[in-house]
Amino acid sequence: MTTFETYLDARNGTVLDDDLVVVLRNIAEATRQISDKLRTSSLDGLTGSTEVTNVQGETQKPLDILSNDIMLEACRRSASVSFAVSEELDTEVAIHADGKYAVIFDPLDGSSNLDVNVTVGTIFSVIRATTADDILKSGRGQLIAGYAAYGPQTGLVLTIGQGVQMFTLNDEGVYMLTNADAKIVPEAKEFAINAARRSSWDDAVAAYIEDAIDNGHNMRWVGSMVADTHRIFNRGGVFLYPADRNKPASGGRLRLLYEANPIGLLVEAAGGAAIIGTTTILDIEPTSLHQRVPVIFGSKTEVDKISAAYQERV
Ligand code: AHG
Ligand code: MN
Ligand code: MN
Ligand code: MN
Repeated sequence: MTTFETYLDARNGTVLDDDLVVVLRNIAEATRQISDKLRTSSLDGLTGSTEVTNVQGETQKPLDILSNDIMLEACRRSASVSFAVSEELDTEVAIHADGKYAVIFDPLDGSSNLDVNVTVGTIFSVIRATTADDILKSGRGQLIAGYAAYGPQTGLVLTIGQGVQMFTLNDEGVYMLTNADAKIVPEAKEFAINAARRSSWDDAVAAYIEDAIDNGHNMRWVGSMVADTHRIFNRGGVFLYPADRNKPASGGRLRLLYEANPIGLLVEAAGGAAIIGTTTILDIEPTSLHQRVPVIFGSKTEVDKISAAYQERV
């Protein structure tokens, strides 16, 4: 079975130059370290919440901070990294003055699940950036996107510009290639949405969900975008976090740069679709680091239905 290392070696010389191989190797090592820390967090006093509120207005969990530190260390170990952007940091952090790649990440996604032992993840994106001004670019410009899913297994899902590869961490701490060309099935009868927020849905989403329920679709909502995404990669489905119709300026809950864009690139690379309504996620021109957007992605047939529901209402 192919290991992560042998996979990187085979891809070296494509979009993946020697420098990016080092960046990816260090990110993979960071996810291994985060996975280890999660396994025994209750024994190490890494549960509960801190007194600190992050730039999102969220109370930081100890593992949010620890995962962020581990990801920052991975960036510092990579000589070609110019900047790091994180959900947990107010602004971009300069790493190496002569760097040429920015690493943009959500160090721990699904933090509300940490103390209840439910799958969480790390989401990352790598773009070309020599100055801070290069960071705010549309998702189509991403060189690499991926996530680690920390569940019963630790999985790593990655696109380096040629489809999507899935790896599974073995008990020696080696990521083994378990799917060399992951595809999201176009048809599915399962949706993921936080139904408690129904009063905030716009008409297009409300109509799609009502129709899905009338046609016997099932619902799953983990509260961790990475966990819901990983299910969609493995059995199809559609994920929706729409904007709040009562607070349209808020843009929704999820963040463009380190949640919507990397997941959007992975989903499209696997034959799925990722939209905010009538436009695709990857074509949005960002205006700020922590900008929030509505997010709808997954099985193409279902996303196309939702897109049509928006088109009918423009
Ligand atoms: P994070 O833990 O990185 O802040 O992200 C949490 C996000 C996403 O992972 C999840 O899908 C969503 O928040 C859950 O939102 P609700 O709690 O509103 O359901
Ligand atoms: Mn958060
Ligand atoms: Mn997140
Ligand atoms: Mn997070």
